[in-house]
Amino acid sequence: MFCSKDLEKLRRKVSEKLSEKRFSHVLGVERCAAYLGKLILPDAVDELSAAALLHDISKEISYDEQIKLLEETGFDLSDEDRKTPGVLHSFTAPIIIKRDFPEFATDNILSSVLYHTVGRENMSIFEKIIFISDYCEDTRKYDSCIKVRMSLIQGLEKLSYEEKLDRLDKACLLSIDGALEALERCNIPINSRMYLTRNSLLLK
Ligand SMILES: [Fe+2]
Repeated sequence: MFCSKDLEKLRRKVSEKLSEKRFSHVLGVERCAAYLGKLILPDAVDELSAAALLHDISKEISYDEQIKLLEETGFDLSDEDRKTPGVLHSFTAPIIIKRDFPEFATDNILSSVLYHTVGRENMSIFEKIIFISDYCEDTRKYDSCIKVRMSLIQGLEKLSYEEKLDRLDKACLLSIDGALEALERCNIPINSRMYLTRNSLLLK
């Protein structure tokens, strides 16, 4: 689908659009997603790399500009979405990808960036890999991120395919709990989409 040259070109383009710190996080997400991809979705490793590189492409755009982009494209934006600005960049990323990186606008890439912040019910394996990689990539130094990373990757290679999927679900659940705890501690409003994702993982 994409060759290593395409990914190298994409890495360069993304690095020009993001701050150094954000780009370093993005490379961390790419490393994590590619590692998980090799073990769980070997046919989609390059596509996962591209999704990881693009997932935060609109994170440094201003709030007003994000809202404008979403309104212009008719996105179904709730009042709660407007009041939880941390989620907006995941909604605008697919718009930017279709506009500026159309060669990477595959269904998997668009949906995984769209849901990488709050997830959704019945996430695909591809979406879960991007979701969890964003939380526990190795430049993240919070205790909860390290804990989730360790619980996800320890002995992962030796597990059966089904056990790997189960491990992935548990890590997604743990990461949501870690994110909820951090938001609650700082009294930051929580987008209820996160609870739908959490329930969906719990009720499997
Ligand atoms: Fe991210």
